[in-house]
Order: sequence, then C-alpha cells, then structure tokens
Amino acid sequence: MNPLQFLRLLFKGPTPQQMAAQLRKPHGFMARKVGERMNAVNRSLYQGAWEALDLRDGMRVLEIGFGNGRFFGELIGQAKDLKLHGLDFSKEMVEQASAQNAALIANGTLSLSLGPSDRMPYPDALFDRIFCINVVYFWEDPATHLGEVRRVLKPGGTFITVLRTRSSMEKLPFADHGFTKYEQADWEQVLRANGFIPSATTVLREAEVEFLGSRFTPESLVMTASVA
Ligand SMILES: C[S@@+](CC[C@H](N)C(=O)[O-])C[C@H]1O[C@@H](n2cnc3c(N)ncnc32)[C@H](O)[C@@H]1O
Repeated sequence: MNPLQFLRLLFKGPTPQQMAAQLRKPHGFMARKVGERMNAVNRSLYQGAWEALDLRDGMRVLEIGFGNGRFFGELIGQAKDLKLHGLDFSKEMVEQASAQNAALIANGTLSLSLGPSDRMPYPDALFDRIFCINVVYFWEDPATHLGEVRRVLKPGGTFITVLRTRSSMEKLPFADHGFTKYEQADWEQVLRANGFIPSATTVLREAEVEFLGSRFTPESLVMTASVA
C-alpha cells in the first residue's frame, strides 16, 4: 500500500475492493478489526452450523476458513471428546486463532493449520464432519476444493456449507469484487456436480445488521450434504 492509499484508508475507511480483499483473506493491520466484525455479524450462522453438524461424542470435525477462531471454544462443548481442526490460508487469522485458543491447542483438542482448501494437509477419510461459513464465495474453481472435501471426509460423514444468499449479497457493495454468489439451487447444483448429495437446507433469516456502513437483513443457507 502506498502512502496515498494509506491516508485514504485512514480518513475515508476501506474501499469496497479493499473490504472484499480483506474478507477473502484478512491481512495486515486491518485483519484484527475485520475478524472482530465478522464475529459480531456471523454468530447466528455459527449457531446454524452447529445445529446442522449433529455432533456425537468423539467425532473429528474440520472448519475451513475459521477467521479469528472465536467460536472453537463454544463448539468444543457441543459433545464429549471432540477433536477439532481448522484450516485457513490467512497467516494473521491462524496467528489470532492460535492465541485465542491456546488452551484447547495445548490440551490436544484443537489443531490449526495454515493452508488453502484446495490442497489440504490431511490424510484421506479423516473427518466425520466438515463445515465452512462464508467461504465458498471465494472458491474460483469449486471442483478442486470440493474434491479435497470429499477426499478427507469419512464415508457417511457430512459437509455443511453456510452462505448468504445471492439476493442478500447483492446489497453489499464489496460483494461485487471477486465474490461468486449463490442461491440455494445454484449451490445444490455445484454440490451434485461434484459428487455430493444435498440432504437438508435451513434458511436463516437474520436480524438486521450493520456491516461497514451498510444496514441490511440478510438471509443465509445452512446446507448439509453427504458424499454420493
Ligand atoms: C469471510 S471470512 C469468514 C470467516 C468466518 N468463517 C466467518 O464466517 O465469520 C473467510 C475466511 O476464509 C478464509 N479462506 C478463504 N478462502 C480460503 C481458502 N481457499 N482456503 C483456506 N482458507 C480460506 C479466509 O482467510 C477467511 O479467514
């Protein structure tokens, strides 16, 4: 960032392009604030994911794109003896999530990795559950990411995608910059084309939120799928 861009950011706030780039991959000095704002506006999406996960004792669970990792501490209490894993390609998010979840990491219940979801650092058939929230908009070629999800999911496991609908995203100026937007039928089609069977979808109508100057009442989808 050159000095002019920095001054603009300081006095006028981020442009929609800068915001989009931060949401795709939080980085630099804005990363902490972006992580905290995501926590505030996305809590209900996490609650929707936890219900869909339908966890049993002893399961191994992966979250792709965990942001600052604020919610692992709540997820761990949802069943006994869970093993949690997180994968995120933002160095800043992995650092913040590691600091925030130091106790879970130290006692061996949480393991965080830095890396992209189209090349996952896990052996085949490791996870009972995989979920991601507000991540699939950024997958330019969903087939490669979904191929990896299929590979590391156990037979009989489930994959939960949580995303805001295209009609909600269209109200956000930053979502014009590098986001692929989906309605329910669009994402179901992508799942089917990549070897998944969608089995249940819950529509979340959220409370009105303010996100960086925009007020809106978003609608999100919590979509459960298994391997065909
Ligand atoms: C919009 S944020 C969502 C964070 C959190 N899940 C939430 O909903 O509040 C997207 C997160 O996914 C991560 N991410 C995006 N694409 C990714 C990829 N291909 N592989 C790994 N992490 C990715 C970003 O670094 C970021 O932390």
